[in-house]
Amino acid sequence: MKTNVAVFYGCRSVEHEVSIISAVQAMRAIDREKYDVTPVYVTKDGEMYTGSDLFTIEEYRNMPELLKKCKKVYLVKENRNVVMKYENAGLFSSKKPVNIDVAFPVVHGTNCEDGTIEGYFEYLGLPYVGCDIISSAVGMDKAIFKDVLKGAGLPVLDCVCFRAREYMTDKESITAEITEKIGFPLIVKPVNLGSSVGITKVNAIEELDDAITLALSFADRILVEHAVSAIREINCSVLGDTDSCTASVCEEPFMNDEILSYEDKYMGNSKNGGQSKGMASLGRKIPADLSEEKSKEIRDLACKIFKAIGASGVVRIDFIIDTETDTVYANEINTIPGSLAFYLWEASGIKYPELCDRLIELAFRRQRSRENLTFTIDTNILSGISFGTKGSKGAKM
Ligand SMILES: Nc1ncnc2c1ncn2[C@@H]1O[C@H](COP(=O)(O)OP(=O)(O)O)[C@@H](O)[C@H]1O
Ligand SMILES: [Mg+2]
Repeated sequence: MKTNVAVFYGCRSVEHEVSIISAVQAMRAIDREKYDVTPVYVTKDGEMYTGSDLFTIEEYRNMPELLKKCKKVYLVKENRNVVMKYENAGLFSSKKPVNIDVAFPVVHGTNCEDGTIEGYFEYLGLPYVGCDIISSAVGMDKAIFKDVLKGAGLPVLDCVCFRAREYMTDKESITAEITEKIGFPLIVKPVNLGSSVGITKVNAIEELDDAITLALSFADRILVEHAVSAIREINCSVLGDTDSCTASVCEEPFMNDEILSYEDKYMGNSKNGGQSKGMASLGRKIPADLSEEKSKEIRDLACKIFKAIGASGVVRIDFIIDTETDTVYANEINTIPGSLAFYLWEASGIKYPELCDRLIELAFRRQRSRENLTFTIDTNILSGISFGTKGSKGAKM
């Protein structure tokens, strides 16, 4: 019997649509000789649907129609297996429960990629592709990511980080701290979003409050860091786990504006008539035009960062080079990168089906090593337990 891979995507995230593109690409790439693929589309309300129409990207143009053709499902644990069941499936329904062997989350952004969906799989005891809860959570929070890297002696730009309430109650001192520690130009970012949402470059103090107010409409915590003017952006993907990982070739994405925007990333490529292919459609140079030395420096750093946060699966780490000083800084990590960074692996000699295969193998490998850990301790402490008459008062069931 083939291994059944359930691909989870969508979810309550500002990157919902981008996740659909990444997931449909991935589902088409998974080797069907070896695997069965079950799409599990999660709506913005958190409802789960499955159906064969979900494999076709054009179907998503009319979501209400698409969902009418699909079936609502839920997962349950049965006889130590995880089973997907159809809602309202009667006794004689042709929709039989489906065993899920491994989950393959292709989600982007908060409420899913940040450890939330990983926590759901952990709770079910279902093997899953990619980073675990903690590395996903660290990867999603740009400020905590910086702290972890700093702690490991890895290079990041300094930042000032604060919460909405702190800013509302004491704008003056936060503004003073930003001006003193960071200076202008600077970049204001919500700590936990992606796709450049809520990010503004600020050239002078008069523009600061508006930029912070915008960022605060997306997240409760904000970070402010120096804006690198002579910037080159270089991305590198890493595949593996903390025992063994490899870095891909580097890419250099191109931007139309001062910062790489949502439009640059997903809508920018006019060559394909505005049709987005997710991160794979961004204008970019692969491999990036870098000296062998610089490329090695970045790829080595990428592996160190991967290990520092305890990542697993495939990630993309985005770097900033300040070309004035030739210094490399880690900017952010995408623990489930757009298009799973397959285009970087193809350029590194690994085809997309093989990438998916390795990711699924890594999921089972982690599950096997988890199974060797002790999660329950059999004791007899309950055998003679009693709360006595006092304790039992009011405790009748
Ligand atoms: N410190 C910085 N200096 C200059 N530009 C920056 C800086 N940080 C981010 N940017 C620009 O903003 C874009 C989005 O920021 P990033 O931190 O990558 O957030 P996101 O998670 O939204 O991709 C970057 O791709 C880059 O173009
Ligand atoms: Mg980015």
